[in-house]
Amino acid sequence: MLNRPFKPIPPTVAPPPRPLSLFQTVRAARRNVLEVIPALAFRRPIVSGRLGARWHMVQDPDALRRIFLDNVDNYPKSEVMLRMLRPAVGNSLFTSDGESWRWQRRTVAPVFTQRNVAALAPVMTATAERTAQRLSRGGTHPEVLAEMLSATFDVICDVALSGREHFDAKVYGAAITRYFETVGKASILDFLQLPDWMPRPGAVLGRGSVRTMHAMVARAIEARRRAGGSGRDDLLDYMLKACDPESGRRMTPTELLHNMQFFIVAGHETTALALSWALLLLALHPAAQARARDEARAAVGDRPAGAEDAAVTPYVRQVIEESMRLYPPVGMLARNVRESDTLCGRDIWPGDTVFLPIFALHRHEMWWTAPDAFDPENFAPEAVQTRHRFLYLPFGAGPRVCVGANFAMMQAQIILTTLLARFRFGPGPDPLPVPTMSMTVRPDRGIRLTVTPN
Ligand code: HEM
Repeated sequence: MLNRPFKPIPPTVAPPPRPLSLFQTVRAARRNVLEVIPALAFRRPIVSGRLGARWHMVQDPDALRRIFLDNVDNYPKSEVMLRMLRPAVGNSLFTSDGESWRWQRRTVAPVFTQRNVAALAPVMTATAERTAQRLSRGGTHPEVLAEMLSATFDVICDVALSGREHFDAKVYGAAITRYFETVGKASILDFLQLPDWMPRPGAVLGRGSVRTMHAMVARAIEARRRAGGSGRDDLLDYMLKACDPESGRRMTPTELLHNMQFFIVAGHETTALALSWALLLLALHPAAQARARDEARAAVGDRPAGAEDAAVTPYVRQVIEESMRLYPPVGMLARNVRESDTLCGRDIWPGDTVFLPIFALHRHEMWWTAPDAFDPENFAPEAVQTRHRFLYLPFGAGPRVCVGANFAMMQAQIILTTLLARFRFGPGPDPLPVPTMSMTVRPDRGIRLTVTPN
């Protein structure tokens, strides 16, 4: 018998062979949005169907370029998605459109420049050190998703609202979880496109959690306003000072509240997921882990990583990028259609819904040689240079690309480098988790790994 090296296939979902009926879609979407993506979407550039209105799933890089960039005004964000978010984040940068979006983008983008993000790195370094300390005391099989959520939440609380006296991270964290479990879940009524005034059970349950989150963030902002700054230039200081370079307009307290609230919720969960999936993949792939660990140890030795180490840990970055290919934290986006258009030779009509299943794009048979296998070489510089830019979109693209991408990558690289330099990660005692999406792509049962000091 041939003695082939063992190559584990990272866990995934089995796609349905054909697009689902309305009833099946609603049921599957409540369980796991990834189960709605049919097998054809992993093989064809576009798949279309009808569920009440017509829908299309687009996995073709030129068509994606058209939606995200060349004809972006024709494809506003889907109302169904926005409706889920607005109770918590109002008309913030993420949820607004047209002029309301444009001035907020002009105002917020400079806050997240590479220079400003690098200035926030010491907080990330301190958190990475605390996380390593916790892991070294945490027994042999820690649940790494909980650890990563706690680490990234720590960072965002510290850089967004430093001074915890107005902010109880535990209460806030519990409110976020409740929000995701209630308002954040696609309601059957949303899919059937029933009117807004009909009460959604989730929305009613989630109202309390939104009030809790808003009250805490508002208190922190007000305290900072009165104090006239934190004295160390954090994200909230930058946002309080930010103004539209064209009109000089500044954010009102409500606009500030909604944007800060979005940064906190979106910024920590997504990054924690990227890190947790990366640790699982490295646990399943000892050779890649050894290479990343050697690089991390050579760069930082026993100290925690900082912003300056990013340049000398390119393979760690490749690991994070490859992990977000297989498990993009935002696995699917949706857009409405304003006017008729053509995508991949297919007519697109006003009123259609266009889904952008990033999860299927990243594992597409036409674009990747071994779509379901973990291979950080997919992100070696030569591979990236020769690939169509719109084949890898964990942060979206075009004018609405994630404004926090620099921040997320810096934080992920600092935490992963620090942990790899200190610990070895192996498979844990549980069966492998299944990627499950409601708003983000989470492991269904958490991720317990075997962690031993180096
Ligand atoms: C790994 C971590 C992250 C991932 C995967 C991610 C993903 C995304 C994606 C896919 C979009 C585009 C959505 C669309 O086009 O419909 C987006 C937008 C956005 N993200 Fe992120 N994000 C991450 C981290 C962050 C962080 C750390 C922040 C802020 C602290 C942030 C703030 C935003 C904002 C404000 C937008 C809206 C930008 C606009 O519409 O102009 N994100 N993100």
